[in-house]
Amino acid sequence: MSRHPETDAIRTQTQRTAEKEHSTPLFLTSSFVYDSAEDMAAAFADDTLDVNIYSRFSNPTVDEFISKICVLEKAEDGIATGTGMAAVFATFMTFLSKGDHIISASAVFGSTHTILSKYLPKWGIAYSYFNMNDPASIESLVRPETKMLYVETPSNPGLDIIDISFVSEICKKYNILLVVDNCFATPAIQQPILLGADLVIHSATKFIDGQGRVLGGVVVGRKELIQPLYLFVRNTGPSMSPFNAWVLTKSLETLYVRMDRHAASALKIAEALTNHPAISWVKYPFLSSHPQYEIARRQMSSGGGIVTFELKGGIEAGRKFLNSLRMLSMTNNLGDSRSIASHPASTTHSKLTEAERQGVGITPGLIRISVGLEHPDDILEDISQALI
Ligand SMILES: Cc1ncc(COP(=O)(O)O)c(C=O)c1O
Repeated sequence: MSRHPETDAIRTQTQRTAEKEHSTPLFLTSSFVYDSAEDMAAAFADDTLDVNIYSRFSNPTVDEFISKICVLEKAEDGIATGTGMAAVFATFMTFLSKGDHIISASAVFGSTHTILSKYLPKWGIAYSYFNMNDPASIESLVRPETKMLYVETPSNPGLDIIDISFVSEICKKYNILLVVDNCFATPAIQQPILLGADLVIHSATKFIDGQGRVLGGVVVGRKELIQPLYLFVRNTGPSMSPFNAWVLTKSLETLYVRMDRHAASALKIAEALTNHPAISWVKYPFLSSHPQYEIARRQMSSGGGIVTFELKGGIEAGRKFLNSLRMLSMTNNLGDSRSIASHPASTTHSKLTEAERQGVGITPGLIRISVGLEHPDDILEDISQALI
């Protein structure tokens, strides 16, 4: 019998040192030493040698974190980066060249949108957006120079969901790399590689850390795809700090129990808010009213920890809601043990025009709740009193 992922998330570990430590050690070192000049020369002569040289290239604590994500995502290999955005950017820079074209869902995280629309064109890389609710339109956007298709599912903050297997069929037909940002689901809920994705990206800053402490990113996939990504990270420097890797690998030990609790509480809250007089709709992947509910049930094992809803009173009601909260934190992070409320239209996305906001699914009264690990009744109580 193969081991369960819950066990792998705990028991995948760097080889124990001579100190016989129980918890995983932290190798907080910038570089590594050699036994001889010949060993040092050999390490530098061959990029593919499995030997630690310098922590920008590799580090045992970072390697443990990568190994765990690979096991959980069913991937052959991976690289870790200082932030989720560094993982996204490194992926674009490694696989896209001048003259290439990328197709992306328009509903992607704000900074990903900025890279696609402001930086890539500067370097002669074109992009096209498609609507997550219209995946049939993807094929008409494919050009001979299309090299990558990029999606987030569920998307941030709109919670749109796309059928990864369906998109993967299109990518296979046209020989396009399929890259999935799996940040909202985590491998505890969804494994895009099993559904045909070539590369999976995470902002480890979110549910993987789970306690809002450190930043981190990771990309996993087939060995032949990770090798050029590794060289990009090794040479350009967006590497993960060993300290952050240690925090994140310890966090992974509790990922499965945390995600179960996040999801159970989120479903309870989503159900309780449905039909609330101050709310026009509630969106959660495992509510049958979600437009892609059937797809969510097929490719996710739970609905995850994020719930969104629309306040009838628009922007003003959103501001008032945030100001009325007593316990939920007003901050733009998500995936924390502490529940968080955000109102994108008056905060993170306030500089966009109304039309631009609508384009990425941000309606005036949209509230995003990252459901934490407090007692669900206490979370609901705070949301309910702020809605009055
Ligand atoms: C879906 C998604 N992808 C990527 C990122 C970027 O990650 P980071 O903030 O770690 O750079 C975020 C951050 O919120 C995110 O929500």
